[in-house]
Amino acid sequence: MGVFAVALGPLLLLLFCYFCYVGFHRHRKNRNVPPGPWGIPYLGYLPFLGPHPRNTFNRLGKKYGNIFSFYLGSRLAVVLNDHQAITAALQEQAEVFSGRAGGFVASYLRTGVERATHGIGTPGGSTFKEGRKFMLQTFRDLGMGKSKLQGSIIQEANGLVDLANKFNGQPFDPFPLLNTAVANCVGALCFGPEFSRNDPSFGQVLTGLSIAESYRYTLSPLQWFPWLRFLPGPFQKKWHQTVANTKERLQFVRGMVKEHRVTFSQANTRDYIDAFFHRQAHIKGSGADLPPIFKDEELEANLGSFFGAGMTLTAVTLTWALVFLLNYPDVQKRIHQELDQRIDPGQVVELEDRAKLPYVEAVIREVLRLADTVPLILPRANLRETVLLGHRIPADSVIFSNFKAVNDDPALWHDPLVFDPTRFLAKDGSVHEPSHFAPFSLGKRACVGESLARMILFLLFANLMQQLVIKTPPGIAPPLLTQRVTSQTSTPMPFRVCAVPRIKMNQL
Ligand code: HEM
Repeated sequence: MGVFAVALGPLLLLLFCYFCYVGFHRHRKNRNVPPGPWGIPYLGYLPFLGPHPRNTFNRLGKKYGNIFSFYLGSRLAVVLNDHQAITAALQEQAEVFSGRAGGFVASYLRTGVERATHGIGTPGGSTFKEGRKFMLQTFRDLGMGKSKLQGSIIQEANGLVDLANKFNGQPFDPFPLLNTAVANCVGALCFGPEFSRNDPSFGQVLTGLSIAESYRYTLSPLQWFPWLRFLPGPFQKKWHQTVANTKERLQFVRGMVKEHRVTFSQANTRDYIDAFFHRQAHIKGSGADLPPIFKDEELEANLGSFFGAGMTLTAVTLTWALVFLLNYPDVQKRIHQELDQRIDPGQVVELEDRAKLPYVEAVIREVLRLADTVPLILPRANLRETVLLGHRIPADSVIFSNFKAVNDDPALWHDPLVFDPTRFLAKDGSVHEPSHFAPFSLGKRACVGESLARMILFLLFANLMQQLVIKTPPGIAPPLLTQRVTSQTSTPMPFRVCAVPRIKMNQL
């Protein structure tokens, strides 16, 4: 018997003990967690999520029910796959499920620093709560949901109409125009109404942001396996591009903060940055140390969050609105009829007109329901172990809320796959939002920009419709509703439209 054979026995025994230990540990770890598919060692189910994870979730939901789980690397992921499961977690156990799954890519995009935890999107604890409170208060004070901001937004709507008219009825890609208009609206809130929208570096930041957003899904394995970025190939290339774009964006934001330091006046609050400075001055004035939440890094990370998914999501929602109008011309006709009946010709549409335009409001809601712009929401995490619908959810699991499953559920919506804005109208013609409609999510981490987003969506959409007719280019079919590019956001496939001024149309 050679030395090799002598050593083999103890080695096999060691391996056997190791696998018994891992199996026992796994068994204990998995005790009573929601059912779900097996993955492969080390990677878990990650390689099987496919290019459209929400389709995978829908398939798994049929097999495992409204709550199921799998491993992403070594971390348990739990999918809440219907209204009951989502409300049981995000509303009934709101505090427990108020964490963010975080992850390498998410934190880098916000801060430009690896593994940093600044900003509103931080995993949990008091930082995000105070950050949210300050943000909501500041947005409210600066005019979110009121008329103060609407001047800037209406100006953007008019600018958009002028740009569309410059194409003189010829086809163009609407997304970059909508994206810039929304960025200018959000920019007015962050950097003041006078900030230089035409600054070429701002345009570059927006392009970089769109690229980074489109890479988000491909790069998602890096959330769990950051070392993948060192491997030559698609991860590395896209990661390098993302790093360059993030640096450019943060440089722009830092430049804005620096400029504000110079022009800041105690007597004035022009925007979010000024409000932040006021709070810093107030704390320093009271002799206290500046808490981490009001340090400059936090300000930069928060501005980074506004200029991230939030802004893109609003532009993507408007782009989906055009896709639906091209596919449902009768809806566009009815919008125009409502505008003609309720708004004087040549008048801009203002926030106070909302009640007069229930159909326009209903169309925006139906777009939010069917467009499915945030397929996986931003994953949450549970701050401690809990029991949900009879299942044990170990602390710090990744929580995915599949709102698409809610929006497509025939038990909640009549003909859910049909685009029918009237489902949001009550019998008396006013707008009605059922409680299972939650495009901005639920609970303690629900979208902090909801009122701002609703305000921008209404003012831009209604004013565009007031002035333009949107058509597909002659001889071209409307963009397909079923095809989309899925990343962090879910966007329509690139398409082109023709825009004709309504005044001209009425004269034809
Ligand atoms: C149509 C437009 C928008 C949609 C559909 C949308 C949707 C969402 C959703 C679903 C979440 C995740 C909530 C959760 O985890 O439960 C979220 C989070 C967030 N949104 Fe929005 N959003 C939009 C626009 C905006 C805008 C305009 C801003 C700000 C300028 C914004 C700022 C944020 C922030 C900061 C968070 C993270 C909140 C936190 O972690 O506590 N969003 N949004």
